[in-house]
Amino acid sequence: MTIQELESRYIINTYNRQPEKNLCLVEGRGSLVKDETGREYLDFVGGLAVQVVGHCHPAVVEAIRDQAGRLMHVSNLYYSGPQAELARVLVENSFADRVFFANSGAEANEAAIKLARKWGGDRYKIITAERSFHGRTLATVAATGQIKYHRGFAPLPEGFAYAEFNNLQSFEKLVDSSTVAIMVEPVQGEGGVHVATKSFLRGLRELCDRRELLLIYDEVQCGMGRSGHLWAYEHYGASPDIMTAAKGLGGGLPIGVMMARERAAAAFKPGDHASTFGGNLVVCRAALAVLQILLEKGFLEQVREKSDLIFQGLQQLADRYPHLVKEVRGLGLMIALELKKPLAALAQAECQARGLLVNAIGDTILRLLPPLIVSKEEISRALNVVDEVLANLEQ
Ligand SMILES: Cc1ncc(COP(=O)(O)O)c(C=O)c1O
Repeated sequence: MTIQELESRYIINTYNRQPEKNLCLVEGRGSLVKDETGREYLDFVGGLAVQVVGHCHPAVVEAIRDQAGRLMHVSNLYYSGPQAELARVLVENSFADRVFFANSGAEANEAAIKLARKWGGDRYKIITAERSFHGRTLATVAATGQIKYHRGFAPLPEGFAYAEFNNLQSFEKLVDSSTVAIMVEPVQGEGGVHVATKSFLRGLRELCDRRELLLIYDEVQCGMGRSGHLWAYEHYGASPDIMTAAKGLGGGLPIGVMMARERAAAAFKPGDHASTFGGNLVVCRAALAVLQILLEKGFLEQVREKSDLIFQGLQQLADRYPHLVKEVRGLGLMIALELKKPLAALAQAECQARGLLVNAIGDTILRLLPPLIVSKEEISRALNVVDEVLANLEQ
């Protein structure tokens, strides 16, 4: 049986796999991946924002190999050197005083929701944004401000309300005596790459301080250097009380982290929350290697330069194809090209046929999430492909 036949026989049908040529990727290095036939693609999907340092970065591979040969896993009943060291690096490079390790973005958000409720005592309501995405567990689905993810899963956990993203009044109106926190993505990813305005996040910070609420940022997708700073909130001058990160942190291994200021973190006591694999030794070593790369002098500056290059290129394409392209938006290397017509799936397939992987969101949005180590030459190759595809779509 082929891989595709095995999949359709044995795996529960939750994913729309890339139908175009039944793509099955088997190798990767840097910004490039290869399929079963040996064909190479520029990967601007990056495991969906996971490959910030590219595929199989030698320093990450070496850290994993080394730790896998020593000790892969111990229970959180015991102390762990890599876990403690990773916590130190995260705290020293963020607003946070303490962290909790989980295995995914959804789990990190679950931890944030539980911590906010524990901190809040009788208060429990968390206001999130319309069009947000916070994960697929029941509580994080409930936190997600998109009805399509709620359907079929009632009853969802109570205590979430949805306000309009980038509309401070809309959030303020929903605050009542049961409200404990506000939770937003500084850049909404799955909702279509929508960037928070400075006045919005600063306004939320002020609102949270005034009403004694916790401000929670979900940086699962926009963190880890993707915005051009290590954390997206650094663009805003408005830091959170709790923040979650995942995706890129493990260099391709599963990890999630909830980071918190002491005043919030202190609400958790031994036994309040736990995870068997959270803070796994191999994963923490991989994350330490990733952070070392991101924190190298000049690395994030280069990300910002590459971001300028790709934005300029895409804007030129938007000007050249005004009947097709509605908008280019995003932050750093988290970019959306919104089309005026429902052609995103076709554009994605056409890019793939020309050796470029991009991600279609809904009918009209193409999302580009290149690895942060992408070269300028690879960026111009990708821009040429998008140019060719738009030219074809226009005919
Ligand atoms: C902003 C955000 N939060 C949470 C999640 C859920 O992360 P995971 O799939 O690792 O559970 C995602 C995944 O796309 C995300 O983009």
